Amino acid sequence: VSSISFDGQVAVITGAGRGIGRAHALELGRRGAAVVVNDLAREHADEVVSAIEASGGTAVASYDTVATPEGGKAIIGAATDRFGTIDILVNNAGILRPAYFEDLTLQQLDQVFDTHLRAAFFVTQPAWPVMKEKGYGRVIMTSSNSGLFSHGGNSNYAAAKAGIYGLTKALAYEGAAHGITCNAVLPMAETTISKENPIPGLEEDRGRLLDASDLELMSVRREPRLVAQLVVYLASRECEVSGLAFSAAGGRYARVFVGIAEGWLAEDTGEATVEAIGEHFDEICDIAEHTTPMWLFDEYADVVRRLRATV
Ligand SMILES: NC(=O)c1ccc[n+]([C@@H]2O[C@H](COP(=O)([O-])OP(=O)(O)OC[C@H]3O[C@@H](n4cnc5c(N)ncnc54)[C@H](O)[C@@H]3O)[C@@H](O)[C@H]2O)c1
Repeated sequence: VSSISFDGQVAVITGAGRGIGRAHALELGRRGAAVVVNDLAREHADEVVSAIEASGGTAVASYDTVATPEGGKAIIGAATDRFGTIDILVNNAGILRPAYFEDLTLQQLDQVFDTHLRAAFFVTQPAWPVMKEKGYGRVIMTSSNSGLFSHGGNSNYAAAKAGIYGLTKALAYEGAAHGITCNAVLPMAETTISKENPIPGLEEDRGRLLDASDLELMSVRREPRLVAQLVVYLASRECEVSGLAFSAAGGRYARVFVGIAEGWLAEDTGEATVEAIGEHFDEICDIAEHTTPMWLFDEYADVVRRLRATV
């Protein structure tokens, strides 16, 4: 395998002062990208810049928040002012404000939506015209297994991360004509994010649903570096896919997709009644035969294929 280089490219990583974002920044810096290391925590951002420079790379810190439009502009401005452009954006910064649904406050909802879902708009929007003009860009969003597969005690986060999946698809569609790809990662890694804000019920559910030896096996494969390898591949010139989501968990890398079952087709629209839905419900739910539409119009094509088969 030839080695993948980022010489001459500029990358912005949000929330890169520690955890998974730090691993992305170090890997991109090591492979020749000029890196904007964004993090609210100044000392953490500075440490990562120093580490990249110490290994011969180029980096600059940005301490702006991802959670406002002004912050987003300033983060992308750090790349364009200092390095003249932006090729790669990894939206990674994040927080947890977990609570059981009935206890969730408006403040917890706002903080999580601002830092994850709205931030993905705030930071990507100022990068978009730069990428569009040069006809090249790699945008990587950080979604979550907690968003697309979910568990309890974290509904604000689950909804924000699932929203990011929708944004990933929409930007992939709009970016296609301009050489801009947009993909999402669902990471799993040992970091401090959930230690600072423990999710109610998570440990208990994990202990109840998985046995101790399974948990032990997973616990030794949780380095952020494992997630960064996939993200850095998605950020490369070599990778041209777009609109896809990938899980990186325990060293297992796999595409995550939304599919649609073959379902039940009412041959005559008059046949489609509440009772008929009930009668055909097993068929409606059966996913043994399914497709994975890439875009909205692929679902149209699916329905049309079924309709044609009936005439
Ligand atoms: N660790 C996991 O298993 C896991 C699982 C699924 C998704 N994720 C996602 O991966 C991303 C990275 O998480 P992590 O586990 O490395 O967490 P982390 O807490 O180690 O790192 C997140 C970083 O984001 C920074 N940050 C927070 N708010 C910010 C803001 N407004 N502006 C700029 N920086 C800000 C923090 O200072 C911190 O350094 C997050 O989006 C998280 O939701 C993590």
